[in-house]
Amino acid sequence: MEQFEPVIVAFCCHYCAYTAADTAGSQRLSYPVGVKIVRVPCTGKVDAKHLLTAFEKGADGVLVAGCLVGDCHFKDGNVKAARRVEFTKKYLEEIGIEAERLEMVRMSAGMGREFAETATAITEKIRALGPSPVKGKNCCCGKAA
Ligand code: FES
Repeated sequence: MEQFEPVIVAFCCHYCAYTAADTAGSQRLSYPVGVKIVRVPCTGKVDAKHLLTAFEKGADGVLVAGCLVGDCHFKDGNVKAARRVEFTKKYLEEIGIEAERLEMVRMSAGMGREFAETATAITEKIRALGPSPVKGKNCCCGKAA
C-alpha cells in the first residue's frame, strides 16, 4: 500500500523562513517534498482567508512561518499573524477540521536546520492525522478540493 504523502502549504516570510528554507537547501538538508512554499512579504499579510483557501484547495496541513518575536520587518506582523492563526484554529474546529493541521512557527534566516526539522515534524504529524477531511469534497462552486 502506498504511504500517504501529506501536502503542506507553508506561508513563509521572505525575510526569515523563506531564506531559512533556502539555507536548508544550500546546507543540503532535505525536507519532505509535500511541503509547498508560498513566499509572503511578511506573515502579517497572511489572512484567515488564505489559510482556509489552502485547505479548500487540497492542503492537508498549513504552516505559517514568520520572523522571531521583535524581528518582524513590519513591526508586529508576526504577532498579528499568530492571532489570526489562533482564530483560524478555532474556526477549523467548528467546521470539523482538526486545529493541529494549522501551525505557526518563528525562525531567523539562518535557521535552515530548524526549517527542515519543522517541515519534517509537521509532515509527520499530518501523516498521523491522515488526509484532510476537506479533500475530495465539493466546494460551493462544485469543484472538488
Ligand atoms: Fe517576517 Fe514580518 S517581516 S514576519
